[in-house]
Amino acid sequence: MNKEQQLEELAQTIKHCQNCPLYQKATQAVPGEGNPEAEIMLTGEAPGFFEDKEGRPFVGQAGKLLDKLLDSINLPRKEVFICNMLRHRPPENRDPLPQEIEACRPFLDKQIEIIDPRIIVTLGRYSLNKFLPGEFISKVHGQARFVDFAGKKRIIIPMYHPAAALRNGIIMEELKKDFQKIVQF
Ligand code: URA
Repeated sequence: MNKEQQLEELAQTIKHCQNCPLYQKATQAVPGEGNPEAEIMLTGEAPGFFEDKEGRPFVGQAGKLLDKLLDSINLPRKEVFICNMLRHRPPENRDPLPQEIEACRPFLDKQIEIIDPRIIVTLGRYSLNKFLPGEFISKVHGQARFVDFAGKKRIIIPMYHPAAALRNGIIMEELKKDFQKIVQF
């Protein structure tokens, strides 16, 4: 099976996932989308209202900002792979619970294994903590780190979550600056 077929098979598994109770209240799962050969993967937190309705990641307000940030470095959205820590929407967009993150962990791990990206951009503290546990986003955002993951050294670039930037102008400026760092790699 090629990468596209492997990702599609995994997406079908994700769509039927009942590993935690979140599926009960969600409209549908949001497996993630993008280029199976992506060199850059972006991982957010969890689907929100619009993502839950459409079954696609980052299509609401935060997604529109993400699109603009990708545009700002001439990186077409279809070139990267975008997904989340959680694949079903938590009720009222509450923070992910540790047991939900654990239940969803195999999906992100498998997507990384299949796509084999050189760079992983973490959006927000939950995906930061997957790759750099114990680090604070306010301290490490915009700083690339080399991390052994799925059998390879990968470049992790932690960033603030676009939704946080929409609430806070200072974070917005930091996120715009941090995005430019992707170009260096
Ligand atoms: N916020 C996220 O973390 N992910 C999405 O897909 C949308 C909003």
